[in-house]
Amino acid sequence: MSQSSFLNRLTAAFAAPQRPSAEPAAPTASVAPDPLHEAALERLPDPVAVIAAARAGGPEVLFANAAARTLFGAPHRRIGLVNLIRDPGVLEAVDEALFGRIEARSVYEAGGAQDRVWRALARPLGDPATGPRLALLTFSDETDAVRGERRRADFLANASHELRTPLASLIGFIETLRGHAKDDPKARDRFLGVMQAEAGRMSRLIDDLMSLSRIELNEHITPLGQVDLTLAITDVVDALTPLVRQAGVALEPSLPPVGAATIVGDRDQIVQVIRNLVDNAIKYSPRDTAVRIVVSADVSAIEAVTVRDPAASRFSLLDPDRVEGRRYILLQVSDSGPGLAREHLPRLSERFYRVEGQKSGEKLGTGLGLAIVKHIVNRHRGGLGVESVPGSGATFSVWLPRADGGQVGAP
Ligand SMILES: Nc1ncnc2c1ncn2[C@@H]1O[C@H](COP(=O)(O)OP(=O)(O)OP(=O)(O)O)[C@@H](O)[C@H]1O
Ligand SMILES: [Mg+2]
Repeated sequence: MSQSSFLNRLTAAFAAPQRPSAEPAAPTASVAPDPLHEAALERLPDPVAVIAAARAGGPEVLFANAAARTLFGAPHRRIGLVNLIRDPGVLEAVDEALFGRIEARSVYEAGGAQDRVWRALARPLGDPATGPRLALLTFSDETDAVRGERRRADFLANASHELRTPLASLIGFIETLRGHAKDDPKARDRFLGVMQAEAGRMSRLIDDLMSLSRIELNEHITPLGQVDLTLAITDVVDALTPLVRQAGVALEPSLPPVGAATIVGDRDQIVQVIRNLVDNAIKYSPRDTAVRIVVSADVSAIEAVTVRDPAASRFSLLDPDRVEGRRYILLQVSDSGPGLAREHLPRLSERFYRVEGQKSGEKLGTGLGLAIVKHIVNRHRGGLGVESVPGSGATFSVWLPRADGGQVGAP
């Protein structure tokens, strides 16, 4: 069946005999549309509607497929277009297609809980010389693309802002050193110290940004190596000894024997995860307190997200896909620092997110550490959670699938 005969039959089948039709008199309502064409349209995942120009009352929806009916809460067919869509951009696009006989586009933002962004496209349909004046209205979901675009723009703005602050301070100090502090050796020494710290901060920020972009590039590639968490944590603890001593904090690891906690992973990335979490715990710990690093070698997904302290708020920053019977290795890093109020928990792994007014020692962070942790854990098909009682500390948990496949009954 040709396209036009399908359209004629469609128009005919749904034309209201008592209402004036727009164009040449509609055929009788007894002709059914080709079932295959209609079924194909009906099953398309994107919303599709056929619109007819009506003489009175504005364009009319002749046919709306299942996706379009869901989007607009519309009846199957035969309803005035304005009853469904009030968006002026979409209505104008339909008019262009019906009466200007040209293709027209518009963006349609469906509000509500879903908050999706659609690209609406109206195309002239059929030939008004021989049949009714029709338009095909289709919608494609552009939410992900639009959000991705916004995220990229936000990210660039944030990254530039983060770099501009230390840079502005550096420029200020250089001016001072060349100006009135030129012959003041004491001031010069002090300023050079601050300049070194600012330059160090910029350098850390750039390292973290590059690290994040590298991790994102291969996030979809499953890592191949095997990593023993006990050995990896021991290495991190050893490397952090000077920092720990300086902070007056004790590290208390509680680890299974070597060989009992092995995951499939990229060793450098896993070390980065451990390091970032332990670094944070040290940074926010008061002197003379302990940071506990506990590894449980064999837990279920449910056990991994179970709250340990009933007084605590808990939030999963990343949940792995559920796989029946999968067993995990759970790493928990706890401190006795200020903890985090509930409202901050969901935002912790956002890039550059830092809790306002929190004391983090002299080494101000970049706010990228937990974002890096989240992306690495995601690449390893694991989970990331945080639990905290404000005022008495925080526990960050990472759980990663066991290398032996972790099926029930596995050794
Ligand atoms: N153990 C913790 N206790 C209290 N707050 C924490 C803890 N860990 C992280 N946070 C809060 O979460 C924010 C984000 O942490 P993240 O590690 O991403 O950034 P950062 O430590 O500030 O900087 P970076 O790790 O990039 O140097 C921190 O700025 C801090 O406000
Ligand atoms: Mg950090």
